[in-house]
Amino acid sequence: MVMRKIGDWAWYDFDSLESTNDYALTQSAAVKKALYTAKEQTKGRGRRGRSWISPQGNLYMSQLLLTAKSPIDLVYISAISIAQTISFFNAVLNPQIKWPNDVLIEGKKVCGILIEKSISGSSIIGIGVNLTSSPKAKVIYPTASLKDFNLNVSREDFMAKYLAFFDANMSKTLPQLIDYFMTRAYKLNETVTINLSDKKISGCFIGIDEKGFLLLKQGTKTTSINTGEILFS
Ligand code: BTN
Repeated sequence: MVMRKIGDWAWYDFDSLESTNDYALTQSAAVKKALYTAKEQTKGRGRRGRSWISPQGNLYMSQLLLTAKSPIDLVYISAISIAQTISFFNAVLNPQIKWPNDVLIEGKKVCGILIEKSISGSSIIGIGVNLTSSPKAKVIYPTASLKDFNLNVSREDFMAKYLAFFDANMSKTLPQLIDYFMTRAYKLNETVTINLSDKKISGCFIGIDEKGFLLLKQGTKTTSINTGEILFS
């Protein structure tokens, strides 16, 4: 394992870990701003108990930070920063964010984010970016890598730019973040199905409210949804 610095982030890079999120969860509450990466993961985890297939060549990183920001702010900050990073390296690609925090290009998932809290109250933002490959079998949704779109960027360059956007976005308010999100929202004003923990519901995705919740219109009724995810369709 090698320790370097990117700005004021202490960066610990491993050849292989089971999961960078699991590793970050074991680290001390005294750590204020650290980054854990692995060149491959053997038990990478996704949202909702899914696994995250993690061969060499992609980016697997977990940010560990002590912050007063709410998890919902962190959801928007991280997804937006990823979209900005992709746009920075290729302004034509038009990444979209599938609520709450998958990043897609041309409807295919190129990045997934898993945010967790440690017992001591630190936040862990786990991010997988398909830089050079994406799983085609064993996943039920469309995937792609940045390389598929002729965007060849190294792990280090992607991380450095992402962290610069992340640090800048940490000083934005939730309404400012939502404004940006809306410019990149997947399926805005279209019919979507939302996966809630116990059921699925469909309706028109009409926007995001001031708390960051998704607004779903079904006939004359509008429901605000705080946790769940839009399904691919
Ligand atoms: C998802 O879309 O389901 C979230 C995927 C999150 C994957 C990243 S890879 C780095 C970090 N370590 C993990 O085990 N998971 C996250």
